Amino acid sequence: MSTLCSDQAILTLGGNEYKFPIVEGSEAERGIDISDLRAKTGHITLDKGYGNTGSCESAITYIDGEKGILRYRGIPIEQFAMGPTFTDVAWLLINGRLPTTAEYDEFSADLTRYANLDESMRHQFEGFPRVAPPMAILSAMINALSCFHPELHELEDESQFRHAAARLISKIRTIAAYAFRHSRGLPNIYPDPALRYVPNFMHMMFSQPYKQYICPQLVRDALNLILILHADHEQNCSTSTVRMVGSSGANLFASCAAGVCALWGPLHGGANVEVLTMLEQIHQGNITPEEYVKQAKSKDSKVRLMGFGHRVYKNFDPRAKMLGAIAEKLLPQLSAGDPLLEIARRLEEIALSDPYFIERQLYPNVDFYSGILLRAIGIPTNMFTVIFAIGRLPGWIAHWWEQNQTQANRIARPRQIYVGETHRDFVLRDNRR
Ligand code: SDX
Repeated sequence: MSTLCSDQAILTLGGNEYKFPIVEGSEAERGIDISDLRAKTGHITLDKGYGNTGSCESAITYIDGEKGILRYRGIPIEQFAMGPTFTDVAWLLINGRLPTTAEYDEFSADLTRYANLDESMRHQFEGFPRVAPPMAILSAMINALSCFHPELHELEDESQFRHAAARLISKIRTIAAYAFRHSRGLPNIYPDPALRYVPNFMHMMFSQPYKQYICPQLVRDALNLILILHADHEQNCSTSTVRMVGSSGANLFASCAAGVCALWGPLHGGANVEVLTMLEQIHQGNITPEEYVKQAKSKDSKVRLMGFGHRVYKNFDPRAKMLGAIAEKLLPQLSAGDPLLEIARRLEEIALSDPYFIERQLYPNVDFYSGILLRAIGIPTNMFTVIFAIGRLPGWIAHWWEQNQTQANRIARPRQIYVGETHRDFVLRDNRR
């Protein structure tokens, strides 16, 4: 909970003074509580894109965009390079602390137990065209999961919630892998209960009925860290969507399915695909890095330097730094000198010394290097954002639950400033000119 500050915000409107309380969070962030602004003043605020508006109080993730700080439940993400698994971090985000060994083992056992899909659900993949976007399938099938678990629509207690969370976190891998296999006309590979979270996913993605794919430790560690670095990011577009949908009382599956749709957008989670498209365009010689940056700066072009810029970070995105370092280390071992990494480095070098980007505080974000890394691991481009969704799911679940546990949870319903036609009457068609 935030604390009430001794000072207040004073708004002068039409010769009247209105006072509003100021609240302060645990990291000294301050917010003006305008919950009764309209009742007091008859005015609402207008903040397009919510760049200045806090929608809730949350204890899950802390970002300081100016200092490039990102912490999950107080732990700086840089410390996750020390080897926790994605399962550890998923449990941390959802439960507020790191799991004991017994809790970790129980959660891992649940993730193994719940990996399979109901056979009639497995057949539903055949109804999609081969070219169906995997994010469309992912959102549809996460929603479809709720049809097979009606007992998890109303989560009465923490234990039921934990089982629903484990089911979702486990099955999203299976859904993602089956979507990929279907797009290639390959038979589904069932999860292997002997494998842990990441190796089991890669097994379902790349094994053949006659030959099991063994996930190299290098790939396992890289994908584990990629998922961790994507696991949560406070009130980003997709997480806010999950909270918005969940605020209506919609169940966990429906809320997360909505999060998948929001993440799909090229300005959000879809940017990692756009980054690779941009790098490949440059690599194929259609355009030089210098020319691309020039286009990205031009008001006349819709081109943006994908993977650059962020609503919150006005400094380096710490995740981009970590992914860049992993790429530097891994790529020479995974895919001999990927030329796209060189192009990425060149773009970064140009942009970081260009006044256009400096003045607008545009730095590489999480998507700038993730695509190159995922490609080196062998993940196909159209699955990049799906990997982002697998990583972000524990964050969505944690926020959905945090909101549901807040007694003051009200349905989210922003206001607007109407700018349309003023009053006019209906005219019968024969009388219209
Ligand atoms: C993610 O919110 C999150 O936390 C998101 C995320 C998460 O973990 O959930 O971090 C994941 O979505 C990362 C962002 C991935 N998207 C991209 O990389 C797409 C490229 N970046 C942008 O489109 C943009 O920077 C956004 C969408 C990320 C942020 O947009 P904002 O905050 O609305 O900024 P803006 O559009 O108002 O831009 C401000 C100025 C504009 O120029 P002016 O009108 O002031 O002259 O900066 C320019 C923009 O044109 N600008 C860019 C640019 N990003 C902003 N110009 C060129 N290239 C870019 N990438």
